[in-house]
This record gives sequence, structure tokens and C-alpha cells, in this order.
Amino acid sequence: MRPTIDVSPLSHSLPLTQPVLLDPHAAPGAPLATATAAPAMPRVLFVDQSGQLGGAEFALLELAAHCSARSEVVLLADGPFRARLEALGARVQVIDEVRVSGVVRQASLMNCLRVVPAMVRQVRAIAARARAFDVLFLNTQKALVLGALGKPLHRKPVIWYQHDILTREHFGRVQLSVVKWLVRLAVDHVVVNSQASARSLAELTGRDASAAPVIYNGIDADAFSRVDDADLVALRRRLCLPEHAWLAGLFGRLAPWKGQHVALEAIARIPDVHLVLVGAPLFGEDAYAQRLREQAAALGIADRVHFAGFQDDVPTWMKAMDVIVHTSTEPEPFGRVIVEGMAAGRPVIATAAGGVTEIVRHGRNGWLVKPADADALAEAIKALHADPELAQRLADQASSDARSEFSVARYLERMSQAIKLAAR
Ligand code: UDP
Ligand code: GLC
Repeated sequence: MRPTIDVSPLSHSLPLTQPVLLDPHAAPGAPLATATAAPAMPRVLFVDQSGQLGGAEFALLELAAHCSARSEVVLLADGPFRARLEALGARVQVIDEVRVSGVVRQASLMNCLRVVPAMVRQVRAIAARARAFDVLFLNTQKALVLGALGKPLHRKPVIWYQHDILTREHFGRVQLSVVKWLVRLAVDHVVVNSQASARSLAELTGRDASAAPVIYNGIDADAFSRVDDADLVALRRRLCLPEHAWLAGLFGRLAPWKGQHVALEAIARIPDVHLVLVGAPLFGEDAYAQRLREQAAALGIADRVHFAGFQDDVPTWMKAMDVIVHTSTEPEPFGRVIVEGMAAGRPVIATAAGGVTEIVRHGRNGWLVKPADADALAEAIKALHADPELAQRLADQASSDARSEFSVARYLERMSQAIKLAAR
């Protein structure tokens, strides 16, 4: 039987058992000198497959910085994530094998077999590195596969932070099967980013959903408070956005399941609203990005749709919006952008599936709509546009909930507990 830690995802009011060492007032980007690990913190080797900045990587960024004194990060591909980690004081090693990086989520068995030699090299390299640490923390699915397969070589406790909903909507049969068996045989602890992700793991493995504690991502709400949006016109001018239009902002990488195409359809039904798409096709979805531009032109709304590309300063961009929309057509495992929109003090409209329903309470701190329903999204945007008081009430509650339920301090505290437990 696995030892358990606090499994209640919403038990945010529990007393902290260890002092929180993170300085919550540190400027973003500043090295977290006061946030390094307590002496009791084990030495952790973190592994992440991506060099890009997706949500799982932002979650690791804070944790790796917090543990930087005695830990190291292995990335299985190079990219901007490495520089962000290093800027926060984390030691980073890139162990890249191009053929393995190229294996996609829906890969066939044949494609997986072709990369076996390269995989073996990576498994051995990670295992060799892991021997110098107390715990191996795997942050993504390829990291899970390569880190867990090396368990007979490194013999270290393995903890996996599951960021995905493990269903056929998101993954291929082969990948799900590999995950199922590795979790059963070679992973000591799993922590999950939402109850929805936990349920999918339980269905896949047959284990009880409560076996994996839910640890929600923490969002640095202070970074949003620091943005001065008193003069919205000046702020928009600085970002080269329309100064007087009513702006709906959609934040996230451009990918079909993130549903940017649904937002375009919705905006086409509301003549006086503009849409700002903040994000880039991070994982090879360039064709989708191109289709979005064509769709905007075909719908005759190209002048009201603004493609901002990837932006580092999300707090400022969010504060420049009137409403934040989230449009994932498949269940979103968690959805950092939703909590960020809430922390920005903006009303958030999100699709009611997956982890989102654990964050947004319809009509209280946000607005939920059916996924992939452009009419419903258009109606929701119109409703908030027409009723500024309702929009403000939702935004006020959202801002307070983001701070009380999704703090970085709480996230780091619970993660530290999970890592210490795994090391025991
Ligand atoms: N993000 C960013 N710049 C952008 C678009 C997104 O920094 O231009 C960040 C966003 O603030 C959020 C993360 O990327 O923290 C996306 O995480 P989320 O959990 O919403 O989705 P994921 O991409 O992980 O599925
Ligand atoms: C994944 C999920 C996203 C979640 C993020 C952080 O990228 O797609 O929903 O917010 O991980 O846990």
C-alpha cells in the first residue's frame, strides 16, 4: 500500500506543517535566494521533456527554483524554458535525442519501436544522473517513460506529476498502455494537477482516485497586482492594441483542442467585440495557426482579431482585456490561464469540462459554457459586455478565489511535502 499524504484538493486552510520559505514579494524573474530548500529538503532530479514554455513547464519553473540549492533539472529538449530556469538559479542539463523528441502523442507502436536505440541512450543518461540525487521527479509523460524505465539502473524513488487527462481524446492507445504499466510497476508516487486528471488515472490503472493527491498549480497573484491598469487606454497603446474596443482575450498555445477556432466563430456573431489571441503554436501546430488566420479572413473579421504571438508578460496582457475566454474543446486538465485571468481581476468565461469545473463556479467567480459551442460562447460574451456590474462582481470574487485557493506558497508547500514523503 502507498503511504498517503493530504489528498483533499480544496483543503487550502489546513495549517502548514513546514515553514514556507518562498518570499512571496520577490520580483518575477529575481533569483529566489530566500526560497531555496530547507536542510530537510531532499536532493531532487527533475525531468521535463520540453524546452518550450507550456503550463507543465511553468509549474516546474517555480518548484525547481524553490529547490534549486540541492537539485537539478534535466530537459529532454532545449528551448526558452532552459533560460527561464537558469535565470531563477536552477541548474539545467539538456539530454536531447531528436528522434525521441519527435514521437508524438498519438504515435503508433511501429513509430515507437523505431526510436528504441535513442530511447535506451536517454534512459541510461537520466539514470546515471539520477544516482546523485534522492528522488527522481518526472514532470511530463516522456519524462515518465524514460525516467521510470531506468528504475532498475538508478533505484531511486520516482514521483510523477501528472498534468494530463489520460483518455483517448488526448492520447493514443500505445501511449496510454505504456503509462498504465509504468505507473503500476515503476512509479512510487503520483501527484495530479486536478481531480479530473486523478479520475482518468484511476480509470486507466484501476487504482483508487484518492491514491494520487491533487496539487493544484499555484499562480503568483502579486505579479498581477503589480500591473497598473488605471489608464487602460495607455496600457493598450503600449501593447499596440485597439485602445477603445471591447477586448476578449484568449491566452494559450495555438492548438486545435484549445479551441481558438470556436472563439473566432463566436466573435463573428458579435460585431462590436475584438478578439486578442495571445500564444503561439508551441508543439508543431503551425498548420492550425495558419488555418486560424484563414478562418478570420473567411469570416470577414480579420480587422477584429489580433494575433499577438507568445508573450512573456501575461499579467500585463491580461489586464488589458475586458474579458478572458477559455475555449478548450476537450476537457482541460487544469488550465493555468483561467486562474491567471481570475488573478488579473477580469471576468473569465471557460468551457465546463475537466479540471475547469474545480476552479470556476458558474455565476459566482466566472461563467461556464459548453465546450465547442460558439453560440453559447457568443451569448456569454454578450451577457458580460451588456452587464458590467455582473462582470465586475464575477471578477472581484475570482480575484479573491485565485489568491486564497491557488497560491504559489500553498503549491510549493504541498509539493515539498510530497517530495519529502517520496524520499523517505
Ligand atoms: N502563456 C505565456 N505566454 C503566452 C501564452 C501563454 O506565458 O503567450 C502561459 C500562460 O500564462 C500559462 C501557460 O502558458 O501559464 C499555459 O498553461 P495552461 O495550463 O493554461 O495550458 P497548457 O498550455 O499547459 O495546456
Ligand atoms: C498541462 C495541462 C494544463 C495544465 C498544465 C499545468 O499542460 O494541459 O491544463 O494547466 O499542465 O498543470
